Amino acid sequence: MLVTYGSSCEALARASAKIAGLNVLDTSRRRFPDGEQYVRVDGDVRGQDVAVFQSLGLNPDSYLVEYALIVDAIRGAGCRSVTAVVPYLAYARQDKRFRDGEPLSAKAFARLIERAGTDRIITVDMHLHRFSRISEVFDIPAENVSAMPLIAEHYAKAHRGESIVVVGPDMESEQWAKQVAATLSSRLYVLEKERLGDRDVRVSDVSFGKGSRALLVDDMISTGKTLMEVIAKLRLQGFSPIDAAAAHSLLVEGAYERLKAAGMSELISTDTVPGPHSSVSVAPVLARAISP
Ligand code: R5P
Repeated sequence: MLVTYGSSCEALARASAKIAGLNVLDTSRRRFPDGEQYVRVDGDVRGQDVAVFQSLGLNPDSYLVEYALIVDAIRGAGCRSVTAVVPYLAYARQDKRFRDGEPLSAKAFARLIERAGTDRIITVDMHLHRFSRISEVFDIPAENVSAMPLIAEHYAKAHRGESIVVVGPDMESEQWAKQVAATLSSRLYVLEKERLGDRDVRVSDVSFGKGSRALLVDDMISTGKTLMEVIAKLRLQGFSPIDAAAAHSLLVEGAYERLKAAGMSELISTDTVPGPHSSVSVAPVLARAISP
């Protein structure tokens, strides 16, 4: 197995390869004057299995094209197989045709990844809601690994022994929140959420406990609106401090600043979407997943 990478996650690809003891093929890229992408993969891939790291957060359409070009480059150079390592998988939340005329984006995006020439895919904490397993979305072998045990260990180091409640903002968050609650031996509460628009949600009232430290756990933070609503409810019940943990911190439109203003204390996230809050690296779980 060799490792190569797109522009979204070079550092994570290198860190994972180092842990797994695998060689990395460098890539280079540029834009043509009209905006089209050019990529080149250095090194001999003939007869080799290659893991291509490309996260698909924040600029997924462009990253997907870059991924497809990398795969074509290594296929053209005679590699034996291609494993897509996609730390953050975009488009998973549109997992239903909610209205007539809409795409089933989760599946449509999966088809694009497959037809680019992918034999197998590995991702991290995929947003599984109406599909309960990654194999219902992909037709190729697919593995969904979790960052939640690493996030929980990281949080436990700082807060072991404290009274903490873990809170999931909606039904689907239970799968992630319960892993964290188990490691922390904490009580778990899962709220109900109603989505009113892209930037607008309503969550159920908090009727449990009072006053202790709370850790909100979700798979991802985009606009931050979901967690802001939960923070407001927890503050009414006197919870303090209120921390948040998510595998994927997209944090669009000033979400971090708005979460801080809403009363969030600490944010723990990973490098699936690299940023200032990537305090936990998923390299160990990805290294394990790609190891021969
Ligand atoms: C959806 O159910 C996800 O699990 C997240 O709760 C959601 O995408 C977060 O989005 P936002 O930060 O924009 O509320």
